[in-house]
Amino acid sequence: MLGGSAMRHNLFRTVVVATAAVWILALIGCARNRVTVVDDAALRATDGDPANWITYGHSYSEQRFSQLRQIDEQSITRLGLAWSFDLGTLRGLEATPLVQDGVLYTSSAWSLVYAVDARTGRLLWQYDPHVPKDHSKFVCCDVVNRGVALYRGRVYVGTLDGRLIALDAKTGKVVWEAQTTPKDGPYAITGAPRIAKGRVFIGNAGAEYAVRGYVSAYDADTGNLVWRTYTVPGDPSKPFESEAMRRAAATWSGEWWKAGGGGTAWDAIVYDPDLDFVFFGTGNGSPWYDRLRGKGDDLYVASIVALRADTGEQVWAYQTTPGDNWDYDATQPLMLATLTIDGQQRRVLMQANKNGFFYELDPATGKLISARPYAEINWAKGIDSNGRPIENAAVRELKDATIVKPSSAGAHNWHPLSFNPVTGLVYMATLDATSIQAVSAGWKINLHDQTTGLDRGYVGPVRKQWLALKPSGRLVAWDAAAQREAWHVDLPDPGSGGTLSTAGNLVFQGRADGKLSAYQATDGKLLWEFDTGIGIMAPPMTYEVDGKQYIAVLAGWGGPEVLGNRATGKGKVAPGKLLSFSLGGTATLPPYERVVQPVPAPTFQLAASKSDIEKGRVLYATFCARCHGAEVASGGSVFDLRYAPEETHKKFEQIVLGGTAREFGMPSFSEDLTSAQVRLIQGYVLDRAREAARTEVSSR
Ligand code: HEC
Repeated sequence: MLGGSAMRHNLFRTVVVATAAVWILALIGCARNRVTVVDDAALRATDGDPANWITYGHSYSEQRFSQLRQIDEQSITRLGLAWSFDLGTLRGLEATPLVQDGVLYTSSAWSLVYAVDARTGRLLWQYDPHVPKDHSKFVCCDVVNRGVALYRGRVYVGTLDGRLIALDAKTGKVVWEAQTTPKDGPYAITGAPRIAKGRVFIGNAGAEYAVRGYVSAYDADTGNLVWRTYTVPGDPSKPFESEAMRRAAATWSGEWWKAGGGGTAWDAIVYDPDLDFVFFGTGNGSPWYDRLRGKGDDLYVASIVALRADTGEQVWAYQTTPGDNWDYDATQPLMLATLTIDGQQRRVLMQANKNGFFYELDPATGKLISARPYAEINWAKGIDSNGRPIENAAVRELKDATIVKPSSAGAHNWHPLSFNPVTGLVYMATLDATSIQAVSAGWKINLHDQTTGLDRGYVGPVRKQWLALKPSGRLVAWDAAAQREAWHVDLPDPGSGGTLSTAGNLVFQGRADGKLSAYQATDGKLLWEFDTGIGIMAPPMTYEVDGKQYIAVLAGWGGPEVLGNRATGKGKVAPGKLLSFSLGGTATLPPYERVVQPVPAPTFQLAASKSDIEKGRVLYATFCARCHGAEVASGGSVFDLRYAPEETHKKFEQIVLGGTAREFGMPSFSEDLTSAQVRLIQGYVLDRAREAARTEVSSR
């Protein structure tokens, strides 16, 4: 159990239940609702105020556990849809809505922010930061946003183009705005800000590009930068920003700073009020492959880091994947909890890392307490007594193309997990999948686009083996104290979303096929399901207004699985919605069927030899597949180029080099491609379209 506030709340609950005066509880709940101000005191006492959900992970410990129990194992059969709100996007939705005093705040794709009445879903205000749509070129994994922060009457959001914006919580009007990344540079923000002591902590994304990661703290009142801490060392001919950066530089080689180094803090940021530390995780190195970066561990990529909240000074760092070689970011959600390990009460910082290990660290020192694999992996055999992975040398070497497990999507990724202090279990989505890692032979830094060093056009013999390996997904309940699986549920599709844990002995999770499910927390028994018809990645959350408990979730499938169509599943792409459920809810959703028309035979003529088409294929895989889909078959959120009409083909070069479809999210590739190369891509696209038209006709 975490600290005193949760205990105080339990006591409070016992007393009220004992008097059986439920209306008093409702009354107190209302009164509390009305006087809430999201300040430091409120953020420290979230466990005692379950009606509201005022910060990303529910509490500073980010356990995503709610004391609400109106919806429990028995009553759940009466859970139904209370209301829904259209978010008008086909892109991925990853945010955790926040609720304060009956108002629900959420972000959506393209960093839009909404405030709605939490009882009815009625729109109160909406804010569009007008992110330049072609900034999508600088995001690896869809134009997502994971959430907003609340503080002293304001709503804070990080935008895809790197701004941090403070809005008036009542009106949605901008109070201040700060550009946190080089303007128009290949950085993005997709993560939720966190706030403590008048400071907004924000990271950034972009380690698929030539960027250098950092975390910043801004004054919540004024938007002034308070501190900025880099995660990897910069150009050593310039003074190092800190001792930590000097130490780190000794673990890099060559001219690493030219490709930025990477190590972006794109998701987890956790404030610990006990230690006054800020914890966060850092992403992969840039480029991805160790050998392209030279020798050494490359601190602090793929690391969990602690900073002093006041100064940003590094206190400790633990590198989960030294010399990361497989895109094993350590950015996944971090959680603080107190566990009883070998009879001793211990405070731990936990993470289900992309690399397949579940880590428990001492938050004060960063010392590894334990690390156990929670999924099947092939890159390492275990962790040694110094906290270093015992690697599989063949997987490190990446000779030719190598099948690596977990995949670059991770055994677990950004999807929030939850911890129920009563069961002692952590509930998380896991993905059993592999990647082909093929290092691009003639890799050169590209400052204008992705520069991972991955040979995206690879089609050698290993690919056939790889295609035969079918990914799968699970909901896993992990015994945190024992570091072992307690139970799991096999999911019908590999893709699933974040989890919510409640005192009603329930775990909620949405998944790719559109089902929102509730399981018994103790044993994983399925208790309730609702078919939303929309793939769900985002975590459910819960709140209470006027004595009624609600479960809310964003439904909207997207991300790299859909855009790059990496064959990890068949997630339902459909217009995104915010959904809220309550006992006795009777609202319904109109059915949505995506109609897939047969690909018409293209009429546009373009001469292309077999070898031109092959060259076009490699260029398409390198520059276009990550949005338009592998082999020109779109996952559903971005236009399928096989359907491009004659007029589009006539303007193909203007679109691809001239940026004429910028406002729809199609970036210009004028700095990456020549006219001749665009024609090669076009020849390949037309070839794929002809092929699809032919096979469709013959199979009809
Ligand atoms: C960052 C994502 C992204 C990348 C990378 C990308 N596109 Fe696009 N593209 C889009 C979006 C978004 C649209 C707008 C259509 C839509 O709404 O789906 C689009 C539209 C287009 C269109 C116009 C289609 C029409 O008729 O509306 C063409 C042609 C096109 N892209 C070609 C390419 C080619 C060729 C490449 C690779 C060189 C490429 N795109 C790379 C996102 C991308």
